Amino acid sequence: MAILKVKTLDGKTRDIEAVDGALLMEALNAAMLVDATCGGAASCGTCHVYFEDASLAGEQTEDEGYMLESLGDFVEIRDGSRLSCQMKIEGKHDGCAIEIAPEA
Ligand code: FES
Repeated sequence: MAILKVKTLDGKTRDIEAVDGALLMEALNAAMLVDATCGGAASCGTCHVYFEDASLAGEQTEDEGYMLESLGDFVEIRDGSRLSCQMKIEGKHDGCAIEIAPEA
């Protein structure tokens, strides 16, 4: 179990519980913080988040990299950018700060 400090689009911060091994997108979607329109296929970009500490963001998948590259025409892409549907929660994420990215 990890507690994530999530900065929402309205600038508030919420603590969100996420189960180890679950997709980050599932926790954020359950909290109604991301739409996840494509259901986790890395094709919509509505689950884009920024990790404040980019070293906790992990490696992007190939498809995710392409999607983030195309999103970059519309929204800021940072070193800590991830599609939350493409990463699983691990113990190292407990207490980490995440920001919901604006939708393209
Ligand atoms: S849910 Fe669509 S890209 Fe992640």
